[in-house]
Amino acid sequence: MRILAIETSCDETGIAIVEARLASGTTKSIKVLANKLISQAELHAQFGGVFPAIARREHAKDIVPLLTHALKEARLVKKLKHARVLTKKEHAVLSKIFHKEPELFEIFKGELLAVKIPAIDAIAVTSGPGLEPALWVGINTAKALGTLWDVPVIPVNHMEGHIIAALLIHQNDLRVTTNNKQPNTYNLTPVHYPALALLISGGHTELVLMPSKGKYKMLGQTRDDAVGEAFDKVARMLGLAYPGGPEISKLAEKAESAVYVQDANLLIRKLFTPLPRPMLKSGDFDFSFSGLKTSVLYSIKKFETLTDKDRELIAKDFEDSVTEVLVAKTLTAGKKYNVKEIILGGGVTANKKIRKVFAEKVTQEMPGTKLFIPDILLSGDNGLMVGVAGLLRSKPKKNIVANGTLKLAKSVSPTLAELRKRK
Ligand code: KG4
Ligand code: ZN
Repeated sequence: MRILAIETSCDETGIAIVEARLASGTTKSIKVLANKLISQAELHAQFGGVFPAIARREHAKDIVPLLTHALKEARLVKKLKHARVLTKKEHAVLSKIFHKEPELFEIFKGELLAVKIPAIDAIAVTSGPGLEPALWVGINTAKALGTLWDVPVIPVNHMEGHIIAALLIHQNDLRVTTNNKQPNTYNLTPVHYPALALLISGGHTELVLMPSKGKYKMLGQTRDDAVGEAFDKVARMLGLAYPGGPEISKLAEKAESAVYVQDANLLIRKLFTPLPRPMLKSGDFDFSFSGLKTSVLYSIKKFETLTDKDRELIAKDFEDSVTEVLVAKTLTAGKKYNVKEIILGGGVTANKKIRKVFAEKVTQEMPGTKLFIPDILLSGDNGLMVGVAGLLRSKPKKNIVANGTLKLAKSVSPTLAELRKRK
């Protein structure tokens, strides 16, 4: 089974081509024929966050050229002597799909009618959650390819993709692509249930119980900002670039390794009270990071001028606070539900501190539990995770629609936003 995957839920255009080979036992071997990514992060940096209309525009500009690159890398492109001409019916269907994106339709025709139909069995596409204008670009492209190539299109939940990313263990067979080295083959580790997933990204902070295959139960989620969003906003307060997560992490690391770290507590106490550890003792599995962000703001205000050293210390205290809360809640839930595995997913799992403390604490406090953290290459948004999620789900759908708030599971406790909506 060979799948072409499309990811456009936020500010990364991802295209992957994957092939599943059933290996011995229950381990699936995933061959990566291509895994391409274009990030818009630099473009959004000037707004301090992702601007949906610009994200959509950029996806529409990049998606077909990136697709062609991926097909070439997978050696699936064969130029036709004479470009294909769309039948009346095909033209009508595609015009309808692209009615809001005429430019994209032109690029699509220009590139895809000139080549032979590639040997692809299905297309997987992120249908949510994410920014709807951005999601639509991927969905429409997937639908159009499905029509042109006469293959099924499988909608994928982005968060399920993040869970799967952690279960992909790469083999040591690097392949050299146009600009870097990437693993050629991944083994998809089978999950042992019950398992627990902590999903931490720019838009989500969710603690999800996986009682059995394909079942998800939301134990808790953020009541306000997502953890990645808090990283991004605090970075902005400290005058750092978007995306803020890696920037905060770099500063915090400096504070950690610097000589003055011994004085850190003194310094922090003198200038600001240590940051709170929000909801640590709330007795549930919900999170809240908005207050923490405000505490950072108050702390910053107490400094007359913020030196590099001060910034580093604030970044460290913020990162420590987030880490402490995430680890404590996850371990409490893990013990309560007696889980066999803990799976971390989402862009924030790239954070070194979070990776390290999780590894230490799970070993110390839950020695029988396995911890899965995605390979750094797969921690952020990517097409590969969508492709593998598509392989596992393989439930094609005709009328896929973008769903910005698509859920993995119903929540046991509604968020504030949901409560407000109900009123
Ligand atoms: O999963 P992702 O790539 O996109 C969404 O689906 O949201 O996550 C992006 C988020 C951003 O908020 C970014 O700041 C955060 O992941 N992030 C990090 C790190 N690298 C990326 N947060 C903390 N530390 C990092 N090293
Ligand atoms: Zn994501």
